[in-house]
Amino acid sequence: MRVTPLLLAIGLASALENGLARTPQMGWNTWNSFACDMNETVVLQAAEKIVSLGFKDLGYHYVVMDDCWSAGRNSSGYLIPDPDKFPNGVADLADKIHDMGLKLGIYSSAGTLTCARYAGSLGYEEKDAALWASWGIDYLKYDNCYNQGEEGTPKLSYDRYNTMGKALNATGRPILYSLCNWGVDGPWNFAPTIGNSWRMSGDLINVWDRENVNCPCSETEGLDCKTPGYQCSVMNVLNKAVYYASKPYAGAWNDLDMLEVGNGGLTDTEAVAHFSLWAALKSPLLMTNVMTTIDAPTLSILQNTAVLAVSQDPESSSAVRIWRYYVDGGQIQMYSGSLSGGDQLVLLLNGGSTARKMNATLTDIFWGDGAEGTASEIQSSWDVYDLWADRMSNATANAIIEGGNATRPINMTALGGYEKVYAQEPLPTSKALMGSKIGSVKARGTVTAHVEAHGVAMLRLREVKSNDEL
Ligand SMILES: *[C@@H]1O[C@H](CO)[C@@H](O)[C@H](O)[C@H]1NC(C)=O
Ligand SMILES: *[C@@H]1O[C@H](CO)[C@@H](O)[C@H](O)[C@H]1NC(C)=O
Ligand SMILES: *[C@@H]1O[C@H](CO)[C@@H](O)[C@H](O)[C@H]1NC(C)=O
Ligand SMILES: *[C@@H]1O[C@H](CO)[C@@H](O)[C@H](O)[C@H]1NC(C)=O
Ligand SMILES: *[C@@H]1O[C@H](CO)[C@@H](O)[C@H](O)[C@H]1NC(C)=O
Ligand SMILES: *[C@@H]1O[C@H](CO)[C@@H](O)[C@H](O)[C@H]1NC(C)=O
Ligand SMILES: *[C@@H]1O[C@H](CO)[C@@H](O)[C@H](O)[C@H]1NC(C)=O
Repeated sequence: MRVTPLLLAIGLASALENGLARTPQMGWNTWNSFACDMNETVVLQAAEKIVSLGFKDLGYHYVVMDDCWSAGRNSSGYLIPDPDKFPNGVADLADKIHDMGLKLGIYSSAGTLTCARYAGSLGYEEKDAALWASWGIDYLKYDNCYNQGEEGTPKLSYDRYNTMGKALNATGRPILYSLCNWGVDGPWNFAPTIGNSWRMSGDLINVWDRENVNCPCSETEGLDCKTPGYQCSVMNVLNKAVYYASKPYAGAWNDLDMLEVGNGGLTDTEAVAHFSLWAALKSPLLMTNVMTTIDAPTLSILQNTAVLAVSQDPESSSAVRIWRYYVDGGQIQMYSGSLSGGDQLVLLLNGGSTARKMNATLTDIFWGDGAEGTASEIQSSWDVYDLWADRMSNATANAIIEGGNATRPINMTALGGYEKVYAQEPLPTSKALMGSKIGSVKARGTVTAHVEAHGVAMLRLREVKSNDEL
């Protein structure tokens, strides 16, 4: 088995020991589509669709209510759910969500107010954590607004976020802790021991790439990039995230922000690329589309189990960027990462304005494996599988959406549940989990793929054993 420098680093880190997010968390969040126009009905309707459309079976388990759920504090200092939005209270909602086999998330800010100016949790950490635990909450997204200036050094940010982490732990209820401090003070360094994930950038919006004064934190600033920014494009967030690709590990993930798939703004090709990259970099995968009006292309992206098997591979870490070149209209990039069972992920990103043939040599793909690894892997032959080759058809996706008699690509329940399916070693060469074999590459050879503008080729390489036919 290969041991990469990254894997050695992982062994030294100590994670938050709440047993959660051993693979990047998956779910749905209210914010991008509903903002403050959220309520019990919005949450329940989305949850029902997450179950009936089959998202739950694929691993999307957390339903997260974002900002705007509360109506201040009572005279004992406890948060009150907005009685108009949650007439039955949040504990009742949690019961209903749990009855569906899902988990409920909630939101607050490590400040005096939330970003939408509702009551924040700074100074109320123990009361809030205890209340959420008593309601049956399973997940906290913890924002950074109105933080009273308690940031500017990693210690200040750490202390403020650690206070909530300790309060959550003290409840005795395992609650996934999702830090959202926009990358300020380098959470990839201080958050892994206190949280399950940390946002590494300002908010993502549904734009592929653009110059943006609101998100000026450019890739060339690299590790010194301190400005959180907001309204950051897919390429902007990606080009920041690559610098922290060695940081995430089981239970502690680099959060590139919630998915914009199905929210307009991105073309289908761009949405495929966005989803592929977030999976390859092991970001949490939180959908934010309106579930009740989901369309076929959106469903077939979010339900690509060959891509989810990369995200949810219990042994893989984030893919790393190997190279980048500037081309007309953008940049082309190549990512590589090891997967369980000795497989290798190769992702070719074409950020340029025209479709092009892209290629990656085995030497590039196995750059990180050291002299010994390089010697063996580039001298092997590999089968190449395209993880998007068998994307669900519109007809199948529409049949699922209409509640008809669809033949789903995979039945996780029949196979023992998604966790078991994604953890198989080696992953079976079914279309649902590996896509289709599109070719082979011989020793010292080059992997080549046609890649659409603003698109990716997401490939899984499997070594051909010496006695196999190539
Ligand atoms: C809940 O929110 C939705 C979407 O904003 C809205 O259409 C609906 O009227 C609201 N329902 C209640 C009971 O407030
Ligand atoms: C405030 O809310 C908490 C938690 O719901 C409750 O236990 C307490 O009785 C409330 N206090 C008052 C004064 O309403
Ligand atoms: C609290 O932290 C301890 C020590 O890391 C850990 O063993 C325990 O599982 C945690 N409990 C919860 C509920 O997160
Ligand atoms: C790799 O791509 C470059 C640029 O498109 C091209 O010039 C070259 O011939 C390709 N190499 C292989 C082996 O396909
Ligand atoms: C699938 O449906 C979308 C519209 O929802 C359409 O734009 C797209 O071309 C269709 N794809 C195929 C392969 O027919
Ligand atoms: C679903 O399809 C199967 C196989 O084609 C068929 O036997 C069954 O009657 C269909 N069920 C419904 C409800 O249409
Ligand atoms: C999946 O398999 C389970 C168990 O075999 C079965 O009960 C269920 O109906 C199947 N689901 C679908 C959508 O076919």
